[in-house]
Amino acid sequence: ACAVGASASSQAPQLCTQPAVQASQPRKKRPEDFKFGKILGEGSFSTVVLAREQATGKEYAIKILEKRHIVKENKTQYVKRERDLMSSLDHPFFVKLYFTFQDDEKLYFGLSYAKNGELLKYIRKIGSFDETCTRFYSAEIVCSLEYLHNKGIIHRDLKPENILLSEEMHIQITDFGTAKQLPSDSKQGIITYLIFQKIIKLEYEFPEKFFPKAKDLVERLLSLDPTKRLGCEEMGGYEPLKQHPFFDTISWSDLHLQTPPKLT
Ligand code: ADE
Repeated sequence: ACAVGASASSQAPQLCTQPAVQASQPRKKRPEDFKFGKILGEGSFSTVVLAREQATGKEYAIKILEKRHIVKENKTQYVKRERDLMSSLDHPFFVKLYFTFQDDEKLYFGLSYAKNGELLKYIRKIGSFDETCTRFYSAEIVCSLEYLHNKGIIHRDLKPENILLSEEMHIQITDFGTAKQLPSDSKQGIITYLIFQKIIKLEYEFPEKFFPKAKDLVERLLSLDPTKRLGCEEMGGYEPLKQHPFFDTISWSDLHLQTPPKLT
C-alpha cells in the first residue's frame, strides 16, 4: 500500500501511481522460465507443448498461439473468450488455466498437464468400455456438464479428443476455443453436441450387446424433441438424468475422490 500526500518529515509530496491495495499477483512468467518438451497436441491455431517450470519443477501443458495467424484469421475474439472462460472455471473435471503470458510473436496459456492424454486413445485401444467404466466416465461427464451448465457455459465441441485424463485417470475437459457464455437470462439449455445429420434424423443403431439401461439412457438423451431430452430444463434438469437406472450405483457427490475403475 502507499499513500498520496506529504510525508511525515514534510518534504516534497510523494505521488504514488500504484493502487492503495495491490492484489498480490505473481510476476508474469516468460518463455525462458520453462524447459519445453514434447508436443502434446496440435490444432489449426495452436500447439500444446509439455513444459517444466525451472523454478518450481512443476509441469504444465502450455498452449502456444501465433499472434499473426490469429489476427489474420480473425480469431482474436475466440482466443480471448477461451482465456476468459477457462480462467472462470474451478472444478476438478476441467483443465485449469494457471497463467498466461506473451512475447512479440506468441501467446502462451499455462494449462494443467493431463498426463494420460485423450480419452480417444483409450477408446481406440480397447474398442469399447465395460459397463462399469462406461458408467463411471459417463457420470464424470454428466457432472462436468452440470457444473458448466450452472455457470451458463456451453462447450459446443465435446468429443473424446477434448476429454483428457489425469494421472489418476479422472477426466479433465479442455478446448474452450468454441465455447460460449450464454446471457444470464438465457432460457437455452445445454444443447446436444452430437449434431451429425444421422443423429438428427435418428438414424443410429445400437450394437446387439449394448447394455440395456445404457440404451434406454441414450435414447432419452437423443430425443428428437429437445424439450423431451433427459437433462434439459423442461424435463427437470440434471437430477432426473442422474437418477436414471443406468447410474443406479453411482455416488454423485464425490466422484473426483473415487478411484476410477481400471480400463481393460
Ligand atoms: N493435449 C492438449 N492439451 C493437453 C493437456 N492439457 N494435457 C495433456 N495433453 C494435452
